[in-house]
Amino acid sequence: MKTEDFPMLKQDIIYLDNGATTLKPQVVIDKMTEYYEKYSANAHRGDYDISYKVDMEFENARDLVVNFINVREKEEVVFTSGATESLNMIATGFFANLLEPGDEILITTTEHASNVMPWFRLVNDCGCVLKFIPLDDNLHVTIDNVKKSITPRTKLIALAQITNVIGDVRPIKEICKLAHENDIFVVVDGAQSVPHMKVDVQDLDVDFLAFSGHKMLGPTGIGILYGKKELLESLEPINLGGGMNESFDSPSEMYLKELPTRLEAGTPNIAGAIGLGAAIEYINKIGLDKIHEREVHLREYLIDKLVRIPHIDIINLEADSGIVAFNVDGIFSQDVAYYLNKYNICVRAGNHCAKLVKNATGVTNSLRVSLYFYNTEREIDELVELLGDKDKIIREMI
Ligand code: ALA
Repeated sequence: MKTEDFPMLKQDIIYLDNGATTLKPQVVIDKMTEYYEKYSANAHRGDYDISYKVDMEFENARDLVVNFINVREKEEVVFTSGATESLNMIATGFFANLLEPGDEILITTTEHASNVMPWFRLVNDCGCVLKFIPLDDNLHVTIDNVKKSITPRTKLIALAQITNVIGDVRPIKEICKLAHENDIFVVVDGAQSVPHMKVDVQDLDVDFLAFSGHKMLGPTGIGILYGKKELLESLEPINLGGGMNESFDSPSEMYLKELPTRLEAGTPNIAGAIGLGAAIEYINKIGLDKIHEREVHLREYLIDKLVRIPHIDIINLEADSGIVAFNVDGIFSQDVAYYLNKYNICVRAGNHCAKLVKNATGVTNSLRVSLYFYNTEREIDELVELLGDKDKIIREMI
């Protein structure tokens, strides 16, 4: 399905590392090249035709994001360098000013580093307490466990909508409802969900959402910070400088622009934003429902084959996403990845930037296959055939 749209797939590779980054369709590459070749002026700064054209394309990309995640007001969409920057802006620019010593933040042990370390910083700098919502036997978050974890000091719940190793889909809408009934904010790391399922920020009622362009067919170095307008208005810009100020005369006379510009200091990643817009148009054409359906099918196809191999231990058998984490019994995950690489198969091995997952699974390292809609049954067949022969892995892994 659609493999011909992806120049990378003209090479002899089987790319199964879509949780790390996705491949880019030709239309995204072309759109970015068009910017560099035809109107590569700065944005929001020029009074000439190509500069107006850039402004139009840049803001059109923002409009595409607005519709993609169903944002209420355009000002609520801020371009950042990626989910990591967005989450750090939320932690440092908003919560560091709001939270007091002893206030509690709830996360889980299965979060990615970018949704752990910014909160560690608040523990160190603000005296906040970081607590972990217990997971059920399938390593999933249940509403019951969230309920049990809330105390009168809980001020924030920060969760990935889909985690990058366990691949579980969290009940974010129910969590937001529960949180808001208790005056608790909800931050969602959407890096692994926004590319794969319909995310409607108004329906979910999330307070903040962070995601990256490169995990959804777009370029690297571009991402989104969504926040409810009244919250973004009190998010202090980490970066001060060009573009975001109205005027400045002295340290006491700095006047900033309105949202979202006040949070986008300096020349933005213009090609990145425009490329992300093209990626969204491409995804819209296929439809997120179809993408999700395809991934569910591919996951079932892969799991059905892996469970028949006695030396494969699947870590997240029950997840509902295209992420499958497993180990080959007795063999270090990185050695298996090297072996697969000899056959041009790209998977990720290690702890996948989620270094607390071991506290939940007892497993430090794993192999991770992360699927996207352009993967095929044939690719899965080749992977499974190679994994099925443990003697061959041992013979060839080094
Ligand atoms: N966050 C990316 C991953 O899970 C890099 O691989």
